[in-house]
Amino acid sequence: MSALQQVSIRPFSAEQVRADFPILHQDVNGHPLVYLDNAATTQKPQPVIDAIVDYYSRYNSNVHRGAHALADLATKKFEEARECVANAINSPTSSQLIWTRGTTEAINLVAHSWGKTSLSANDVILVSELEHHSNIVPWQLVADELGATVKAIPVSQSGAIDLESLATMLDKNVKLVAVNHISNALGTINPLEKIVPMCRDTGAKVLVDGAQGIAHFSVDVQALDCDFYAFSGHKVFGPTGIGALWAKQELLDSMQPYQGGGEMIETVSFSGTTFNSAPYKFEAGTPNIAGAIALAAAFAYLSQFDRVEMLAHEQDLLAYCVKRSAEIEGLQRIGREKNSAAIFSFGVDGTHPADIGVLLDQQGVAVRTGHHCAQPLMQRYNIPGTVRASFSIYNTRADVDCLFASLKKVLGFLR
Ligand code: ALA
Repeated sequence: MSALQQVSIRPFSAEQVRADFPILHQDVNGHPLVYLDNAATTQKPQPVIDAIVDYYSRYNSNVHRGAHALADLATKKFEEARECVANAINSPTSSQLIWTRGTTEAINLVAHSWGKTSLSANDVILVSELEHHSNIVPWQLVADELGATVKAIPVSQSGAIDLESLATMLDKNVKLVAVNHISNALGTINPLEKIVPMCRDTGAKVLVDGAQGIAHFSVDVQALDCDFYAFSGHKVFGPTGIGALWAKQELLDSMQPYQGGGEMIETVSFSGTTFNSAPYKFEAGTPNIAGAIALAAAFAYLSQFDRVEMLAHEQDLLAYCVKRSAEIEGLQRIGREKNSAAIFSFGVDGTHPADIGVLLDQQGVAVRTGHHCAQPLMQRYNIPGTVRASFSIYNTRADVDCLFASLKKVLGFLR
């Protein structure tokens, strides 16, 4: 199926979707795999795997450089992929979509290319306590260099960004507010529809870390009205090593290049170099061609289904998980916001999250444990980490049942 080909919507069924993901059909440690680590990375459907094999078996070539048929085909498919992904997030143009290695590189790109021209001493960057390290550390690096300051917007006990604090913190020195769409550690869905207008009122730009948002929502960058949206392909059934930065056109036009090299230039001479326009200005070197094409295949795969039905399925799994969790004595759910994606983070009194994770793995249940690259958030709750079960479209209530049956066994051993 071509990335741009229109497909008709078919009813969503988790059982049918499961059949498209070969990795799910195996035993791990002698038990059928129950994969509940989707916030770390999602599994890949057969069409995504096929797109990678097809590229390397039929038309592997460099893009925008060759004078031969394979290079032409690779360039065509690569640019079609950009158009497909740009369409999927409702970008007004495909040139506003810059390929990166993932969310982390996209945020670093903004910190470097926008930050270094738009921030100066005494400016403030606000990030929330919910953020992943990749939406904290790039800002600390650029702030240290420029004499700017990074401040944290507090988070409530239930895991929501405190909007009253945000309102107090927003003043003319705040040049950027960087928040995630969905917290990877707790699942909180942030109210961007409130945060973005608040920032508009004081003139702060808004960067959204969409690493988790892209996995659960049909993202519409125009409706969100953010300035930057960063995401990773591997969180949305695409390969690792590919992701994108979306940005408003006027910002891209004003930003300096990120890295120097081939493709990002217009002319090079020892008396001076001029740069290409966006997106190429930000894409020095040979890109991840197969990754981009396979990411488009992932979006094409998703476009067969009604995203509202998919979200409802994930929400059902979360609600069922919350209900079943009441059976476990001493289980504390961390993050209890009503508006949450299908991520269930918890601890159990008297046990360490890492021990639970190792023993669940022995039962074939894959979860993530630890600080989830969100150490300031763990400090906020004064905990070493959590056990995190994160659900996706191919999970079922039977997976939730396995999680709790295994957890009961594991706790019987640990306590
Ligand atoms: N950011 C990814 C996670 O939350 C790796 O697990």
